[in-house]
Amino acid sequence: MSQHQVVLIPGDGIGPEVADAVKEILTAAKAPIAWIERKAGLAAIDEGEDVLPDDTLDAIRKHGVALKGPCTTPVGGGFTSVNVKLRKTLDLYAAVRPVRNLAGVASRYENVDLVVVRENTEGLYSGVENEITPGVVTSLKVATEHACRRIARYAFEYAKARGRRKVTVFHKANIMKLTDGLFLRCAREVHEEYPSIELETLIIDAGCMKLVQDPSRFDILLMENLYGDVVSDLCAGLVGGLGVVPGANMGDHMAVFEAVHGSAPDIAGKNLANPLALLMSAVMMLNHLAVDRGDAGCHDVADRVKYAYDRALADGQKTRDVGGSLGTREFCRAVIERLG
Ligand code: NAI
Repeated sequence: MSQHQVVLIPGDGIGPEVADAVKEILTAAKAPIAWIERKAGLAAIDEGEDVLPDDTLDAIRKHGVALKGPCTTPVGGGFTSVNVKLRKTLDLYAAVRPVRNLAGVASRYENVDLVVVRENTEGLYSGVENEITPGVVTSLKVATEHACRRIARYAFEYAKARGRRKVTVFHKANIMKLTDGLFLRCAREVHEEYPSIELETLIIDAGCMKLVQDPSRFDILLMENLYGDVVSDLCAGLVGGLGVVPGANMGDHMAVFEAVHGSAPDIAGKNLANPLALLMSAVMMLNHLAVDRGDAGCHDVADRVKYAYDRALADGQKTRDVGGSLGTREFCRAVIERLG
């Protein structure tokens, strides 16, 4: 197995703790990875750097793959989201978030196995906000045919490659007739090229109700940026919370893997964070490397890591957010002990 250079952005809040745990587990699993560590967010500001330094962006451009911890975004003011900026600057247009039950993690639902595919570059996250006059502000929702079409194609290609049967679009085209109307029309047009995959369209409010009634009826969920952000966390809640949902931000030439959760300032620095979501993101990354770099050995490492965390959970070795009593470091050790 050759070594793959991968950019590691620990982030801030719980980011460094969970990133350390993941690094330790991948080293113990002999993952063929050489980490190129870079900063972003508060960690970069603390060093007197820009919130998203050029050398972080350049490293991702050069190496093509990154694993990223969460970065805090100030609420109601301050700098714009590092996470959104990163995705837009590098054109990582598809957020892919698999949501599944894990054996050993109690949840209200069984048989959940869905994937949220979120458009990552536009919508209300275009960041175009204006004060028209004091007391009157606007936020511009942007939809382009190019972005709507490519995210629809991504969802159908993903479904086809993984033998999935249905893509459900959540939208609000009854109210936002132009923007969500375009998103919906592009999904319908792209679907014509994938007749073996079912297309379902639901107005998002009714879709959310159906999600909490019976999430097992869904397969792939396709939606624009803001809806995808909100629904991702909702879906995490269906299977045990934010500690167990991984993600990937995919572009045509680069991929940045990160958990759905944020920097969790309420538990940062307390050895309480669940590193599993970032570890599962790292497993997605290894599988991506296997395909992208033609290195089947990465699949084997991914399988070993997955086996080890499945075993740990089945043995009741869990962090508090999923009903256990272990700290971040103790869970990390439990996984390492089970690497075959
Ligand atoms: P959050 O996801 O950080 O936390 C929500 C709740 O889930 C908290 O109670 C937290 O303790 C818990 N939680 C999250 N991850 C956990 C883990 N791995 N283990 C155990 N418990 C976990 O969301 P919140 O509080 O809304 O946002 C905090 C900050 O994170 C904000 O500045 C936000 O902008 C940022 N954020 C960053 C993201 C990213 O870097 N991609 C994504 C989401 C939020």
